[in-house]
Amino acid sequence: MTPPRTMGQQFGRKSWAEPWKIKMVEPLRLTTRAHRERALAMAGFNTFLLRSEDVYIDLLTDSGTGAMSDRQWAGMMLGDEAYAGSRNYYRLEEAVRTHYGYRHFLPTHQGRGAEHLLSRTCIEPGQYVPGNMYFTTTRAHQELAGGTFVDVVIDQAHDPTSLHPFKGNVDLDKLEGLIRREGPDRIAYVSLAGTVNMAGGQPVSMENIRVLRALCDRHGLRIYLDATRMVENAFFIQEREPGYAHRSVAEILREFCEHTDGAWMSAKKDGLVNIGGWLAVNDGELFEELRNLLVLFEGLHTYGGMAGRDMEALAIGIEESVEDAHVRSRIGQVRYLGELLQDWGIPIVVPVGGHAVFLDGRRFYPHLPQDQFPAQALAGHLYLDSGIRAMERGIASAGRDPRTGDHHYPSLELTRLTIPRRVYTQAHMDVVAESVKSVYDARQSACGLRMVYEPRYLRFFQARFEPIAD
Ligand SMILES: Cc1ncc(COP(=O)(O)O)c(C=O)c1O
Repeated sequence: MTPPRTMGQQFGRKSWAEPWKIKMVEPLRLTTRAHRERALAMAGFNTFLLRSEDVYIDLLTDSGTGAMSDRQWAGMMLGDEAYAGSRNYYRLEEAVRTHYGYRHFLPTHQGRGAEHLLSRTCIEPGQYVPGNMYFTTTRAHQELAGGTFVDVVIDQAHDPTSLHPFKGNVDLDKLEGLIRREGPDRIAYVSLAGTVNMAGGQPVSMENIRVLRALCDRHGLRIYLDATRMVENAFFIQEREPGYAHRSVAEILREFCEHTDGAWMSAKKDGLVNIGGWLAVNDGELFEELRNLLVLFEGLHTYGGMAGRDMEALAIGIEESVEDAHVRSRIGQVRYLGELLQDWGIPIVVPVGGHAVFLDGRRFYPHLPQDQFPAQALAGHLYLDSGIRAMERGIASAGRDPRTGDHHYPSLELTRLTIPRRVYTQAHMDVVAESVKSVYDARQSACGLRMVYEPRYLRFFQARFEPIAD
């Protein structure tokens, strides 16, 4: 067996560590297997329905689960909770403009608030929305607005074993084919995500966005960017793309955004806060329409669903998030876990992405057909083994085709071990790897699941399952 690598070795140095120290701790609770069996049955075998008290290491999501810095907590005390014109709003607007660069900015309560407004404003019923692989809430809002999402990501994104360095890239032939077939008027905009969550946290290259911009300019199309994890995307460009090794993450981020017409962000990820989001565009007329709708659905345009203190914490979080040392350690920790698992022959999506290690449910449980929810079952078995909570990213997350009512059958059937930012240590990653290994060793005895309750929208959050007995 190859000895596990250290983070220092991964970055070509003798030793390496997080660029922070811990000032406050929160106890974790270990439970017995009998306790977890009861808890999982009560939760309908859906890890979203577990109580967090019953979880040991929580890798459900990196959304809103990060640790704020002492500067951010100090900023919370500077909340200006005025209904209109809060000082913190102007601070946040400045931080977004400095680091992402768009002309007009609106705060939202979280990412899906921004997705709702953008979809409602920019999609006419019957239009197509091409994008580099779907994301659950993004596509749901595009469909609610009467649009049809079309996947134009490169084929390698659908292959968990492909080592392509930019698996989030748009396939320009696929996009051009759609434009030629349907005509540019039937395309609302290009919905681009950096990184691509559902593909395993995979990045888009600068070269790809440049060429995409030129293509869209030729057809008069706009590009809106899901910038939720765009800082992590910028790190991959620095690491992998010729000409960027000596540019800072902050510079790369700005350059990438300059090729797009606007962006939205779930600030609960890269933004290093527990709640919040934003939407920013360059077009003044569109901005006015969005700002007016914001009042209906989110709140006044100077808070948009966020408290003043939360806007202050986010302004500081954005500044911290683009520091090279921070991003390197964040992605280094994810990679550390991924490489431990690879060393043990456990099938994961490669290259290891930015925010999570994705276990490949198809290769983990080849005996389970996709409509028995192998990745959901795997998340359950991991929880039973150790109290570690993961999330399904396969057929349950993909939902149903709104026109035919059939399941979408995604090529990727994954279980996501999502690493919160600045929360867990390398020792926690070791414990996680050992538990995944023990579940892998017992893989032959795993049974599939049947869905017994299915809500209409975003079913993976609230669906309930039952094990299919042998
Ligand atoms: C890529 C991406 N876009 C959008 C969202 C939606 O953001 P929120 O959960 O803040 O509504 C998420 C959240 O998981 C995400 O990962």
